[in-house]
Amino acid sequence: MGAGAQHQAGQPLLIVLEETPVVGVPAALEEERAVAPTITMEIEELAAAEQVVTPWEVSAPDGVDYDKLVDRFGCQRIDAAIVDRIAHLTRRPPHRFLRRGIFFAHRDLNMILDLYEAGEKFYLYTGRGPSSESLHLGHLIPFMFTKYLQDAFKVPLVIQLTDDEKFLWKNMTISECKRLARENAKDIIACGFDVERTFIFTNLSYLGGPFYENVLQVAKHVTFNGLRGTFGVNQEDHIGKVSFPPVQAAPSFSSSFPHLFPGDDQLRCLIPCAIDQDPYFRMTRDVAPKIHLLKPSLIESRFFPALQGESTKMSASDPKSAIYVTDSSKQIKAKVNKYAFSGGQASVELHRKLGANLDVDVPIKYLYFFLEDDDELDHIKKEYKEGRMLTGEVKQRLIVVLSELVARHQRARAQVTEEMVDAFMAVRPLPNMFG
Ligand code: TRP
Repeated sequence: MGAGAQHQAGQPLLIVLEETPVVGVPAALEEERAVAPTITMEIEELAAAEQVVTPWEVSAPDGVDYDKLVDRFGCQRIDAAIVDRIAHLTRRPPHRFLRRGIFFAHRDLNMILDLYEAGEKFYLYTGRGPSSESLHLGHLIPFMFTKYLQDAFKVPLVIQLTDDEKFLWKNMTISECKRLARENAKDIIACGFDVERTFIFTNLSYLGGPFYENVLQVAKHVTFNGLRGTFGVNQEDHIGKVSFPPVQAAPSFSSSFPHLFPGDDQLRCLIPCAIDQDPYFRMTRDVAPKIHLLKPSLIESRFFPALQGESTKMSASDPKSAIYVTDSSKQIKAKVNKYAFSGGQASVELHRKLGANLDVDVPIKYLYFFLEDDDELDHIKKEYKEGRMLTGEVKQRLIVVLSELVARHQRARAQVTEEMVDAFMAVRPLPNMFG
């Protein structure tokens, strides 16, 4: 999830919008901007009526309506034909995040696939805002998926750690942001990225040179009104919120990385991310033709629900809402048993009779993300729905799946040395990056 700039509890945040409203910002920003009347609304009212999804705020009391989001944002849905096409082109089964519609939306993904089919190249770009010491399961999702894309397409990858963004949005010192970026880099490396194809950088150390030139090009072509329409900044916000978005845009352009792509400013970019990051790249795509660069393509995921269910967001600061990659299997067991919202019935008799409501059941949702075996997942869903399986049994299975996943991550992370971090972060050519 994004930067999560939460306003002070109990303080209604007033947002004044001209042009495009912030609530599931319409597609209008790309190419042409529709001018809507001025809307003044308190965010609480807004949230009660509608969902709010920006990189800095996700609020959806009844759970995020992804269909609405796709329509409002103006991205495309990923359908079975695209999934098949990816499987065919990469000659490997599609990742479960693709098969199961967890990565569910895209922009110009077909363009990347056409290119690849024609034997041409592209690169991947993703990132993380290092806001917490340890990652939770939701944070791993884009990286697990990016690792699959890197392996399947054999392409280079750049990973942006936005230590500057976190300094601007969170109450943290610059040195703390830098330290967290390096710690988070270890967790990212533990996801298995190939050092011969991966460049990890922090904004605080990499910003400069041709990268900064692209930051400036973007900044010069985005108006304050356009930015306000896309992100919902208001007059009381500090201006860091205005200056930062071009920094997240710049890695979408290959000329930002002359040590990787010397002389090549027209290499296409594919960005895997959660859908809350879409506004950054809507802005980027809007600007690209104006600065004679290519629009990045996107492949976007749903959010990973909190243990309490879809309407609350998994929070890096609320240990009850999330499972961390640092949790022990004992902690995982306790959290799942105690906090994972159940769609089962109040008594065993009732459950046997009525079965579980899978739509709200968190253990099933988590298995959907992390249980690899499709047949087993179908079996569990059926048995649970028809009351033959109890919540406790489903949780039992989930505890095993998550404990294995987390233990595997912890083993991999323990192998990551400071030298390895330096190696991934070195500004260097990658001679075998397409090999
Ligand atoms: N803003 C993102 C966050 O807060 C980090 C990020 C930077 C990112 N560049 C990205 C995420 C590209 C996805 C893709 O987590």
